[in-house]
Amino acid sequence: MNGLFVPPKPPVPAQPLPFRQFFRTLASNALSSWPAAAYEQPFIARNMLGRHNFIVNDPTGIHRVLVDNPGNYRRSPAAIRILRPIVGQGLLLAEGDIWKLQRRTVAPALAPRSMPLLTRHIVATTDEALDALRERIDAPVDILATMQNLTLEIAGRSMFSLEMQEYGREMRRMLTEFAAHHAKPGMLDLILPTAIPTPRDFARKRFKKRWMGLIEAIVRDRLRMPEPDQPRDLFDLLRAARDPETGAGFDREQLRDQVATLILAGHETTAVALFWALTLLAQDRNEQQKLADDPDNRTRAVLSETLRLFPPAYLIVREAIGADSVAGQAVCRGDVVMIAPWILHRHRMLWRDPDAFDPTRFLPGAPVPPRFSYLPFGVGPRICVGAQFALTEATIVLAATIKRFDLTMESTRPVLPVGVVTTQPDHAPAFRLRLR
Ligand code: HEM
Repeated sequence: MNGLFVPPKPPVPAQPLPFRQFFRTLASNALSSWPAAAYEQPFIARNMLGRHNFIVNDPTGIHRVLVDNPGNYRRSPAAIRILRPIVGQGLLLAEGDIWKLQRRTVAPALAPRSMPLLTRHIVATTDEALDALRERIDAPVDILATMQNLTLEIAGRSMFSLEMQEYGREMRRMLTEFAAHHAKPGMLDLILPTAIPTPRDFARKRFKKRWMGLIEAIVRDRLRMPEPDQPRDLFDLLRAARDPETGAGFDREQLRDQVATLILAGHETTAVALFWALTLLAQDRNEQQKLADDPDNRTRAVLSETLRLFPPAYLIVREAIGADSVAGQAVCRGDVVMIAPWILHRHRMLWRDPDAFDPTRFLPGAPVPPRFSYLPFGVGPRICVGAQFALTEATIVLAATIKRFDLTMESTRPVLPVGVVTTQPDHAPAFRLRLR
């Protein structure tokens, strides 16, 4: 195939999986749960215990759900069950007026004009982390953990003026525990309304208590810092935010949930994006050399192509609140509509060589991808509030890493993506670094 590198991917079932197997696969690796037709058709419908489950690839359908009529769709019970324990009522899960206030408060701090300030933190933290990596030349390096620690440190320092080293280890340990035990949906998680707790919800509740205890400690430390005249970071903006109608600010619990949301959403996705970019480059040495030779033009293209092949948020799910018509299909109240960047980005009708790693697709001057075929950050009013920050951060870290190091993989064992909340690798492979 034109000599392009094709990274390994999980198997795609030729036919829709039988009911039980579908649920089992959804829990173990959602990326293997969708049949080949999902990557070929504009629209797929499946009946799930009396409710419809739709996969929408059609651009007018995506536009309808995410842009035109988003008020008719809410986060699904499974998403709420899984995310609530780690992000509480923060921006990611909030709905209605409280979402509006939160969004209005957070968005300016993460908008393009705030990037110069954030960039300073990103560059300084990246340099420190890469300096530390120089000590590891010729020893096996866990790049996944390295990127997770780095993006966590960047999130803490740039949004909250806090060094994360102190809390980072415990946070990462708890997030690993969460991914292993609480993040995979059971059948009941998918079908019961959130008002009825499932057995897994009880364990999640216990987890939430411990996790939020840790976040509260962070908020407590941060509140000890003297209040400045001018907001110095996102935390100060959150603390100063007032509802334009009621004049009320966020209470302590809301502040805590917002901090949890922004730390979690703000580092885990960027960490896996960087991990996949470096994994692709370690396997495609030719592309790595091209990037090292021309970082100014190629870094962003490599990153965009990584987000196409391994979108960290592989699935956007909504539940219909009322009836609607999506791409000519009737949607009823309670139906589940899925827009899956994982599927869209590898769709046979939308992309040439869809499974191949080809950053030239995104080089300046390349044809623009078809409308709504490329949605790593979603679209519409709930589009990722941190997209600009993520792209700025990932571009800086990727360029700096490749500028300093030549990367190879220790083993030829394929690294397969697994969909558990984000697109994670099935194991953390060892890399070998040499100074460039
Ligand atoms: C490569 C990195 C990232 C990817 C791929 C990503 C992807 C996404 C996607 C697809 C959504 C929309 C979900 C939906 O419509 O249901 C989203 C929402 C969100 N993201 Fe990101 N994100 C990334 C980085 C970040 C960063 C750095 C932050 C914070 C600093 C962040 C904070 C959020 C928040 C708070 C929301 C919810 C927004 C709302 O509902 O109004 N994300 N993200």
